[in-house]
Amino acid sequence: MNSFMAWIEKRLPFMDAMNKHAIQYPAPKNFNFWYVFGILATVVLVNQILTGVWLTMNYEPSGDGAFASVEYIMRDVDYGWLLRYMHSTGASAFFIVIYLHMFRGVMYGSYQKPRELLWIFGMLIYLVLMAEAFMGYLLPWGNMSYWGAQVIISLFGAIPVIGEDLTIWIKGDYVISGATLNRFFALHVIALPLVLVILVFLHILALHEVGSNNPDGSNIKKPKGSMKPEELSKFTFHEQYTKKYDIVDAIPFHPYYTVKDLVAVVIFLILFSWVMFFFPEGGGYFLEPPNFTPANGLKTPEHIAPVWYFGPFYTVLRVIPDKLLGMIAMFAAIGMLFALPWFDRGVVRSFRYRSKLHLLNLTQFAICFVALGVLGTMPASDLANLIGRLATLGYFGFFVFLWFYSKGEKTKPVPERVTG
Ligand code: HEM
Repeated sequence: MNSFMAWIEKRLPFMDAMNKHAIQYPAPKNFNFWYVFGILATVVLVNQILTGVWLTMNYEPSGDGAFASVEYIMRDVDYGWLLRYMHSTGASAFFIVIYLHMFRGVMYGSYQKPRELLWIFGMLIYLVLMAEAFMGYLLPWGNMSYWGAQVIISLFGAIPVIGEDLTIWIKGDYVISGATLNRFFALHVIALPLVLVILVFLHILALHEVGSNNPDGSNIKKPKGSMKPEELSKFTFHEQYTKKYDIVDAIPFHPYYTVKDLVAVVIFLILFSWVMFFFPEGGGYFLEPPNFTPANGLKTPEHIAPVWYFGPFYTVLRVIPDKLLGMIAMFAAIGMLFALPWFDRGVVRSFRYRSKLHLLNLTQFAICFVALGVLGTMPASDLANLIGRLATLGYFGFFVFLWFYSKGEKTKPVPERVTG
């Protein structure tokens, strides 16, 4: 290191942090396909922020100008269509990647002790991401933007006593108007992205404090306990981290996982480009047909459905006949995920070494979640309601069953060293 870099390093240990969090970060050597989605989520986050900044340069956040400004971006701004499709396809890609990232955590028990806080940060990210997507969806001021927001905001009206006032407070008006659009714009372009970035930062810090889990769910850090605290204090933070434990079956993040993740990023970008260039509306799922006409408070679209990624929770809301109970169930469905580390009272993390009952429960949960998602994009019918109610039971059942059987569950022995 030259003397200038050493001077900086003494005052701001940048390389030390890079070593701890990226270059020398000891990653389990058995990471599989499921471990690429954290990096992909980071790539999509950067894409959303960059394309968002450039879209904002030509977007007009007003009831009179918003729809036309999006058309202007699509037709007249140089590469405006590309920026817009990168951003709109990016929103759906974000949720695909995040759902897979979360499911990996559920499969391998990555939410269990000592990673509960990491999971909570993840869930906060998910919550903020949903708010971010919801507010972003109003901005093109298409007819589905308008009515989608109308349906969701009116839900708050079901809350006793304060409900009606709350909806007016959210809208900033008696109806959804330019005032609503303005505040959603402010939250979408600055407040929520800022919170997201901070949360992602904390998410990674929390991960690196306890270390990554792996598909076996085994501990790669074995306590050493041989070093006295005064000896330990002679080392830098990074050295302490690596010397505090015996770490087995780990490899440095760079170059092994930087290269492996790069393969995933390239494959992802190929798929992403294919959708963006040839299929940007995603068959009406990424950009919905009613959104090609301007917002009109007097003309309700025939079938109002939220974007596909809200589907699972929207179905839970819709299949319960009472509006207030439906809303409580919808928030409870998200709350259950927050509390997952405490529903699971087991000590074995990965489904590989857990009971057959757990595998069954996990499978039915995945099927119910997908079913709820699909139903959320379809018009309501008696059959859809029936299936939706069964899937809702399956969704909540996963957590309740887990709580019962996870204590004293018959598990297989977890190998001391990681398997392939
Ligand atoms: C913007 C969104 C997010 C970003 C950028 C992100 C980023 C990352 C990264 C880079 C990793 C390490 C690599 C990996 O294990 O894939 C990671 C791990 C993890 N994330 Fe996220 N994450 C996000 C959202 C979430 C959400 C919504 C959850 C769950 C509620 C979550 C839960 C976890 C867990 C449990 C781990 C540790 C997995 C393990 O070690 O087995 N993350 N995240």
